[in-house]
Amino acid sequence: MSVIAIIGAAGGSGTTTVTAHLATAIGQQDRPVLCFDFCPTNVLRLHFGAAFDDRDGFAAALLAGAPWQHAAYTSADGVRFLPFGALQDDAALERLSAWLHDRPYWFRDCIAALDLPAGTIVLCDCPRLPAALRSQVLAAADIVLVSCAPDPLSLASAGRLAGQLQASGNGGRIARILLNAFEAGRALDRDMQLVLRRQYGALAAPVTIHRDESLREALACKQTVFDYAPASQAAQEFSALATWAIVRSSLQPPHESGHG
Ligand SMILES: Nc1ncnc2c1ncn2[C@@H]1O[C@H](COP(=O)(O)OP(=O)(O)OP(=O)(O)O)[C@@H](O)[C@H]1O
Ligand SMILES: [Mg+2]
Repeated sequence: MSVIAIIGAAGGSGTTTVTAHLATAIGQQDRPVLCFDFCPTNVLRLHFGAAFDDRDGFAAALLAGAPWQHAAYTSADGVRFLPFGALQDDAALERLSAWLHDRPYWFRDCIAALDLPAGTIVLCDCPRLPAALRSQVLAAADIVLVSCAPDPLSLASAGRLAGQLQASGNGGRIARILLNAFEAGRALDRDMQLVLRRQYGALAAPVTIHRDESLREALACKQTVFDYAPASQAAQEFSALATWAIVRSSLQPPHESGHG
């Protein structure tokens, strides 16, 4: 089992889009996959066809003291998925944050205790805030993908974040910057790709995701591009990213079970 976290360099960097499509692409390459939404916005589920008014999720269950595993369901593409769920208000989110803050390895221990098929890849849509949610995911992650728009502020922030995450992983975790919504026809996008390669070198993911309108259209239909536009550039690029992620996750050392 290995865990891949996807976190945004800034808001709207495509983190949720990347999580949904990478999970689906990994599943299509016959690897068992389990996907968690750790974002209180609770929108990853829409890529997987969930009903708009469905409020179920693992966070809501945790707060209610109910078994959180019961919130799981399987998407039309066969992705096993845990939505975050709709919390009642900000106070509920603060209660959840405090609960998790007191149990910094709750998620890591939970997934280690699950009876998952060998070779399962767990993917998490990781929020930047609140910190208690972000820390839960990062404490479990073997690979962190920092989703980054091709603009200078996002790239600077992605470089800082990926550098910190890679250094603090003590060799047991890798971080990579994933350029998303790249448009080759725009000079600044090309410059940003060059800066990523030259300045951050080894931290750059081996795949770039181009801006592709079919990603937005697929979401409007509550689908992924693998159903909506299987011949699209985005579908091909996410398949390539999945191949890399599968190989890379098999190279990661097994996760320490201690709480150090
Ligand atoms: N490569 C892309 N090409 C075209 N549209 C994209 C691409 N990536 C993401 N989008 C669109 O950008 C919008 C924001 O994407 P998404 O919700 O994945 O960002 P996010 O980083 O998860 O945002 P948040 O910070 O709110 O969680 C969505 O409408 C999505 O369809
Ligand atoms: Mg998101």
